[in-house]
Amino acid sequence: MTDAPLVLGIETSCDETGVGIVRGHELLADAVASSVDEHARFGGVVPEVASRAHLEAMVPTIERACETAGIRPSDVDAIAVTSGPGLAGALLVGVAAAKALAIGLDKPLYGVNHLAAHVAVDQLEHGALPEPCVAMLVSGGHSSLLRVTDVTGADGGVDPMGATIDDAAGEAFDKVARLLGLPFPGGPHIDRAAREGSSVYVDFPRGLTSRRDLERHRFDFSFSGLKTAVARWVEARERSGEPVPVADVAASFQEAVCDVLVRKALDAASSEGIEDLLIGGGVAANSRLRHLAEERAAKLGIRVRVPRPGLCTDNGAMVAALGAEMVARGRTPSPLDLPADSSLPVTEVLV
Ligand code: KG4
Ligand code: ZN
Repeated sequence: MTDAPLVLGIETSCDETGVGIVRGHELLADAVASSVDEHARFGGVVPEVASRAHLEAMVPTIERACETAGIRPSDVDAIAVTSGPGLAGALLVGVAAAKALAIGLDKPLYGVNHLAAHVAVDQLEHGALPEPCVAMLVSGGHSSLLRVTDVTGADGGVDPMGATIDDAAGEAFDKVARLLGLPFPGGPHIDRAAREGSSVYVDFPRGLTSRRDLERHRFDFSFSGLKTAVARWVEARERSGEPVPVADVAASFQEAVCDVLVRKALDAASSEGIEDLLIGGGVAANSRLRHLAEERAAKLGIRVRVPRPGLCTDNGAMVAALGAEMVARGRTPSPLDLPADSSLPVTEVLV
């Protein structure tokens, strides 16, 4: 596919400065500079720190990506950038850099939605996206179930079926990790600790799964009750002077999250008669989630696609992948006064 579009994508919605280069569905470079270490001591991402780190990392990361891909910036067919949702100041750095490249190189600019990019990235690993599919996006900022008929968003191609009504799944992992004295970001640490623990040690609540809740929130998620239940359980243990079995609590918490995520995602696919489920976002890197989804989906004849962990967390390749799809499907480029929109709705895939 040498005539497939060569696209450079920039991602700066949170704490990762990502620059990816793709040719159609082929990944040529995925350079990521993370400021996560600078946020760790605060237990969460500090927006101002992230913006400054993006500013410092931007040019070196673009250079590194071009070098890896063996291209010059002037070779690209288009520039793509996350225009939202995310941290306003952080997004602004990426959008400004993308505009500068687009103007300087005289190339079309595509401002795209971060969430749809988490879906499109799977094409780099598993080829053309099955459309329609149900996509479950689970990250530090989002948990949503989407019905995807066109990943570029044309004609309502990305349609929200449900979302979290409080914390995002990754946020729950990060908060529970903190309770257990594990470092930030907590997801990978809980994942690791849980391997040594028992997932049935504590029967933590499964949010929005009672019959009554399902009537109103069939495809929505809630994780704040679970987080509170873990906090109460740990506090009670500490009060009684007994040690907290970190691995068992981590495994039981992880099981509660994954159980609900998989149950609702498969219900969403079944209810629409859709046979392909895609899971993306940072939490999709979770080993238990991947395993449980595969196991239960197989019984229903549903195929599961999950990009490899490095493509699940924020990166520039996902933005380039969605940009390449925009070019391939002949979408109209964004205007040069493209805004950074921190609360861009998921239905707006191309700005
Ligand atoms: O997609 P992402 O890199 O950034 C956002 O858009 O938020 O997701 C980051 C989130 C964090 O909350 C992190 O704890 C979680 O993904 N995460 C995981 C794992 N790896 C990253 N959660 C559970 N298990 C993992 N292995
Ligand atoms: Zn993300």
